[in-house]
Amino acid sequence: MEDFNPDETVAELPDIREVCLEVLKENDRGDHTSPAKLYPHQWLWDSCFIAIGLRHSDPDRAAKEIANLVHGQWANGMIPHMIFSPKREYHLDRDTWRSWLSPFAPDKLATSGITQPPVIAEAVVKVGQKMKASNRKEFYRYMYEPLVEYHEWLYAERDPHKEGLTLQIHPNEVGMDNTPPWVDQLYEHNRPWWIAAIEKLHLDSVVNLLRRDTRRVSPGQRISNMEALMLWDVVRRLRRKHYDIDKILHRSLFCTEDIMFNSILIRSNTQLRAIADYLHRKLPDELLVSMKTTEKALEELYDEATGQYYSRDFITHKLIMQPTIATFMPLYAGTISKERATRLVEVLKNHKQFWLHHPVPSVPLSSPFFSAERYWQGPTWVNTNWLIIEGLRRYNFTELADDLQAKTVSMVTSAGPYEYFSPIDGKGLGADNFSWTAALTIDLLN
Ligand code: GLC
Repeated sequence: MEDFNPDETVAELPDIREVCLEVLKENDRGDHTSPAKLYPHQWLWDSCFIAIGLRHSDPDRAAKEIANLVHGQWANGMIPHMIFSPKREYHLDRDTWRSWLSPFAPDKLATSGITQPPVIAEAVVKVGQKMKASNRKEFYRYMYEPLVEYHEWLYAERDPHKEGLTLQIHPNEVGMDNTPPWVDQLYEHNRPWWIAAIEKLHLDSVVNLLRRDTRRVSPGQRISNMEALMLWDVVRRLRRKHYDIDKILHRSLFCTEDIMFNSILIRSNTQLRAIADYLHRKLPDELLVSMKTTEKALEELYDEATGQYYSRDFITHKLIMQPTIATFMPLYAGTISKERATRLVEVLKNHKQFWLHHPVPSVPLSSPFFSAERYWQGPTWVNTNWLIIEGLRRYNFTELADDLQAKTVSMVTSAGPYEYFSPIDGKGLGADNFSWTAALTIDLLN
């Protein structure tokens, strides 16, 4: 957990690849890999990142990781963000979501009722690249229909006005649970009187009794009790509507067209088209039209004055002008102009905002939200660095991509495969032995 010292010789550091492989072995649950001891279930985008790392040592196991996500797919096409462990001790987690209230949820297992950034098609292609041709074809065939149904669901349910951008209904859908634009929205639209009263009377520490994370990790590194309460309350409201999107949108709490989610969707659309081509299949026309619309609509989230992209409030259509790491995700999408990409890179290289000692912080140093150790409000995460590195390479910012890649690997080598890291001193934070940090470090080493 020490600050990275460039003078240290590589020989004094552990063989990071071995350390990372060991983490993945330790968290292996047979048909999936859990993110860490702190997180005992299967998560959608975690498994995608894990498979992207695992493909280098065991592509078949990596394919199994992804295929297992399909077991949780709902009859309407949604791939849920969590598939719960059936172990008795986790009944409270399953009860919070109660997926069985929806007629679309699978019978045999309990899941959450929302999705997560759709990295699956990307993971399928990347894993496929490492498989023998015959296995690849079989894997792509197995994944094709579920992927088409998932992307169709994203457009049918989450783009009701066919504007191209999909909306998200819970911060967990974005994967950055307490990222500032969402916290802003929660405070504005989703603070019922009883939550406001708890805050006023300073009773929020009671929430600690129900939290597993703050028993293992210092509370200063996690989301606040108020944020946790508001997140829980959104689940309660979605659950009350049995996850029926019409009912949810009818008396809408708040919905956001998230820049990160939509950028990842664009990339996954590209990869889904590649899978279809490989299999000589034709994607449904309507889906192809929606895919194109998203690429255009993404540009509506650009703000010329700041040279950055922002998420948008679905109801008011106003940009939520809170800068975060999500602003760089259009690089990963790969469909923005070189000119806009170049402006984003200027923002990225700013030492007072994002290019800190251990880049890239989840929130810029200049933001009032910035806190070096607090979850998605400051720390550097390996998955977002990986997405940015991919994006920089796509636009031929090779030197910067190499630099960020080397810095990311050094940070993990020095501190260990933690969940996230301080952008100031590189200290490892959150859960230790974190699977996607391990997996993506392996990928970056390759
Ligand atoms: C946290 C993260 C989310 C991740 C999950 C499991 O909720 O915010 O992105 O998928 O943990 O690791």
